[in-house]
Amino acid sequence: MAKPKVVLGVSGGIAAYKACELLRRLTESGHDVRVVPTDSALHFVGEATWSALSGNPVSTEVWESVHEVPHVRIGQAADLVVVAPATADMLAKAAHGLADDLLTNTLLTARCPVVFAPAMHTEMWEHPATQENVATLRRRGAVVIEPAVGRLTGVDTGKGRLPDPAEIFDVCRNILNRHSLARGAAAGPDLAGRHVVVSAGGTREPLDPVRYLGNRSSGKQGYALAKAAAARGARVTLVEANTGIADPAGVDVVHVGTALQLREAVLKAVADADAVVMAAAVADFRPAVYAAGKIKKKDDGGAPTVELVRNPDILAELAAERALPGQVVVGFAAETDDVLVNGREKLRRKGCDLLVVNEVGERKTFGSEENEAVVLASDGAETPVPYGPKEALAETVWDLVLPRLRSAT
Ligand SMILES: Cc1cc2nc3c(=O)[nH]c(=O)nc-3n(C[C@H](O)[C@H](O)[C@H](O)COP(=O)(O)O)c2cc1C
Repeated sequence: MAKPKVVLGVSGGIAAYKACELLRRLTESGHDVRVVPTDSALHFVGEATWSALSGNPVSTEVWESVHEVPHVRIGQAADLVVVAPATADMLAKAAHGLADDLLTNTLLTARCPVVFAPAMHTEMWEHPATQENVATLRRRGAVVIEPAVGRLTGVDTGKGRLPDPAEIFDVCRNILNRHSLARGAAAGPDLAGRHVVVSAGGTREPLDPVRYLGNRSSGKQGYALAKAAAARGARVTLVEANTGIADPAGVDVVHVGTALQLREAVLKAVADADAVVMAAAVADFRPAVYAAGKIKKKDDGGAPTVELVRNPDILAELAAERALPGQVVVGFAAETDDVLVNGREKLRRKGCDLLVVNEVGERKTFGSEENEAVVLASDGAETPVPYGPKEALAETVWDLVLPRLRSAT
């Protein structure tokens, strides 16, 4: 089988050196990579490095090997184009269709999925011009990975850092896998232009400064959902509680601890969201009183009584008061017995569009890499998802969300 053809566009940012690691991962995993740097990129990493690492010729402009019409052929032949790092300048050029070098020509001729991994100073990233360019590219179907937060060039820190090359590679691999499965049909990032919110993990309800009421949710299913949506082109906000998992590339992560914090973060994020998937295990109850000091053992040998109060039902609230008309609301139900009967009843009670019902127990689902579930829909449809990786369940959830999304405005 021919190797998938990947174009690695590199524009002139300080993070260009990190693209060498991305290139190595792509070539070592069996991709035929053509590196197309900009002139500015060559100030950071030279042509010899790109050529030697990729095993392919490298040029920045359209005037070399003209008989092969590289300004058209490279883009036409590509299975994936990934631009990492993508400078503010490159995003602007791509958004406006400029074609003054080989990379920008390639971006106009590519009909495959296109991924941009921007990297720049926070001010450049937050500038309305850049944000509008990003929105334009996403609306057109490109996957623009959210930059990471962290150390930037010099002493500055903030949002704008190139995500870890391993994370960018994961996004590329997911997109290529989906694209090759869908080849012949309508391939491409089918959630492009959408904003989705996912919650993950388990909330912790503090009892005193050292104790909390918690649950066993690992957050892996929510992270699989967030990564899958990002790979399908969505802008993703992940509200995570106590997972300890590293932030995935291309996803805006909000870290929370308690059910009330999770509610606040989710309600804020859904204001402009097309869909929300509540995969987090939110505590139903919290201690009525938080003891400012550590609760001491009683001298008489007795134990303290902890009074609990109900937490708000976030899923029911999201379903009842949709932030946007037609917003798709998906819940998860972890049941220990009478799984389907309880699931159907819960779907009715909560009023959501889809409910992913799975059986949980000490060794089932929580913390494991696999899951088995039935997705119940408000129209009565039931989709069983056989035992398999949490990534597979994530894809099924988005497959079911997709036809329920309101028509794009
Ligand atoms: C040391 C240095 C570091 C730079 N880093 C970045 C960066 O990280 N992101 C960015 O958008 N621009 C950065 N720039 C500015 C770009 O190199 C400049 O906008 C250039 O025109 C981009 O060209 P290109 O998009 O064709 O590669 C940097 C410039 C210098 C001199």
